[in-house]
Amino acid sequence: MAITSDRRQEVGTGLQELAQRHLWMHFSRMGSYGADHEIPIITRGEGCYVYDDHGKRYLDGLSGLFCVNAGHGRTELGEAAARQVEELDFYTLWSYAHPRAIELAARLASLAPGDLNRVFFTSGGSESVESALKLARNYHRELGKGQKHKVIAREIAYHGTTLGALSATGITELRSQFEPLTPGGCHVPNTNLYRWPEDRHLLWAATAIEERIQFEGPETVAAVILEPVQNAGGCFVPPDGYFERVREICDRYDVLMISDEVICAWGRLGHYFGCDRFGYVPDIVTLAKAMTSAYAPMGAVVVSDSVAAPFMEGDTSFAHGFTFAGHPLASAVAMANLDIFEREDLCGHVLAKEGEFRQMLETLHDIPIVGDVRGAGYFHAIELVKDRETKESFDDEESEELLRGFLSAELYERGLICRADDRGDPVVQLAPPLIADSEQFEEIHDVLHAVLGEAWKRVQG
Ligand SMILES: Cc1ncc(COP(=O)(O)O)c(C=O)c1O
Repeated sequence: MAITSDRRQEVGTGLQELAQRHLWMHFSRMGSYGADHEIPIITRGEGCYVYDDHGKRYLDGLSGLFCVNAGHGRTELGEAAARQVEELDFYTLWSYAHPRAIELAARLASLAPGDLNRVFFTSGGSESVESALKLARNYHRELGKGQKHKVIAREIAYHGTTLGALSATGITELRSQFEPLTPGGCHVPNTNLYRWPEDRHLLWAATAIEERIQFEGPETVAAVILEPVQNAGGCFVPPDGYFERVREICDRYDVLMISDEVICAWGRLGHYFGCDRFGYVPDIVTLAKAMTSAYAPMGAVVVSDSVAAPFMEGDTSFAHGFTFAGHPLASAVAMANLDIFEREDLCGHVLAKEGEFRQMLETLHDIPIVGDVRGAGYFHAIELVKDRETKESFDDEESEELLRGFLSAELYERGLICRADDRGDPVVQLAPPLIADSEQFEEIHDVLHAVLGEAWKRVQG
């Protein structure tokens, strides 16, 4: 039965009350919602756009949460799930296999670089990181180096919320209330090139990893985990040669290199795998989000043959797993999602259009609050500053007022969903669906220009 607009309104009103009473939203200040501050309720999606319960349209400049890469409303992904239910609704990967997981594992292996040929499925990003960290420890233990348990990650990097993944996450505010965390998390500087002193060597942050391994004792370090482009802090790209150097360091100290591509895979940087953008081959890749374009929850850990080898012989097993990992529906959706990627050459589209996207963002430099524009592919950040000459940033109170008191609400009000974030210095982040084109770039520009211009006026008082 079709829902009339009156009825939709009524349903919408009911939903608001129910949401305020019963739903616990993630990373959200629930106390801030009330009679005069509605919870945004997204009810429908199509292409690069989503609609709220009032029927208002928004450009989804964040692809859900860096994950609806093929765009909204792809009914063929639902049809793939429906076909799968007719064939096999569920079976577990605990001691059994099923056709879609097998086919998907083989397809991921064929797309992955180097000898990344073994696929361990999960149900999301934190599970992938958690699994990769446990695998790294277990791998070394199998080789008689059980002391190797520490993980080196970068400051401000986000690697997930489960206690193990959180020990790699480098954001103090996300860690402090849950301590003590899983032991072994160590942090080193990230590659914030905007705030890089002129006399600092470009590979300084890579060398910092080596120094930290030496400081901890190489015999205690299991892995280094890094994103191709670091999301938190605002799309930090690596300097030339960074990953090459990290690869050398990992090899020298017998430390596994984990590329956390929960965001950076699946075309976000114009390649199926983010490491391909920068030409390195890690030992382990963690995946999730856009693997299914978020139409079904799914993640994976893709492992090199040599790291998988100790678990592939004799009576050894990786004593780890999740009931829903590699779920047949999710696997079928992931296969259909990859069909879309291939048919529409979404990676090629991003590579062809990223220059235009970047150029559009660069033009925002005519507003003095825009300090830096950085990123790669369809994954960019604009860092906001008080003074462009000195790069002076906002203090915590100013940042709170600017981002939460103004920018987030205003951008949303004007129909653009993007992320205004201050897990490092304040940034606005954009990661539109990979089908976005000139029309959407123009729309993003117009909203950002108006809102950042207004923000600058407010900063000036
Ligand atoms: C790089 C990275 N790793 C891990 C995660 C955790 O993924 P999930 O939220 O699916 O658990 C995220 C989430 O945004 C992420 O960006």
